[in-house]
Amino acid sequence: MSEMIHIDPPPELDMAIGEVMFTQRAIRRLRHDKPVSDESLRVILEAATKAPSGGNSQPARFLVIRSRDKLRAFGALYHEAWWAKRRDEFGWTGKSDIPQGSVYEMPARLADEMADAPVVVLALSKGNANAASSVFPGVQNLLLAARALGIGSVLTTLHPQVMERVYALLGIPQEVHFHCCIPLGYPRGRFGPTRRFPAAAITSWDSWDGVPPWA
Ligand SMILES: Cc1cc2nc3c(=O)[nH]c(=O)nc-3n(C[C@H](O)[C@H](O)[C@H](O)COP(=O)(O)O)c2cc1C
Repeated sequence: MSEMIHIDPPPELDMAIGEVMFTQRAIRRLRHDKPVSDESLRVILEAATKAPSGGNSQPARFLVIRSRDKLRAFGALYHEAWWAKRRDEFGWTGKSDIPQGSVYEMPARLADEMADAPVVVLALSKGNANAASSVFPGVQNLLLAARALGIGSVLTTLHPQVMERVYALLGIPQEVHFHCCIPLGYPRGRFGPTRRFPAAAITSWDSWDGVPPWA
């Protein structure tokens, strides 16, 4: 593997890290009329390569789906996978099963629209089947870099029912492991802030029931 040493970050990644982290969120409504450039994808994937991995083993591999035909085929498989997960979880078979106002409304819409996403990136890994903990730091870098470029993203998953067809569609060797898929595109509409637990509510200090000084 040829290794490149980049010390200077790409000049496009000039948003302050705090703003990037505090405004990054799941963006599922993507503009279909504004493409994501190859250059933006290079910057995003450069950022992904900078993440840590166990022993610097760097098992993560990223497969970018750009071809409209492949995006359409992948979108159909994603749609099938999304509904297969809901069937497994809740026995749902169609939109009328989704409770109104539930957190599943937007993901269901993404399942409908995945085929129209400008780009989808698959996070994969070579080697050890338990590489996830060395893949997701890179995925998080990817999400943050996309945010810094004004590009929306959301981490999503698939279902065993479609995996064989996804591998065949994209020529992925059997020994390569799938971790998640991330549609990318410029956001459509406006997005508010994230809602998260306060840090004090999820932090212990010195022991499980210890309270941080800023609680
Ligand atoms: C492991 C994981 C799996 C996820 N799977 C899906 C998914 O299948 N479909 C989807 O639309 N969003 C998925 N998401 C996105 C989450 O729903 C989203 O990050 C979370 O609700 C927070 O959204 P927010 O940042 O907009 O507040 C997933 C996120 C993670 C970390």
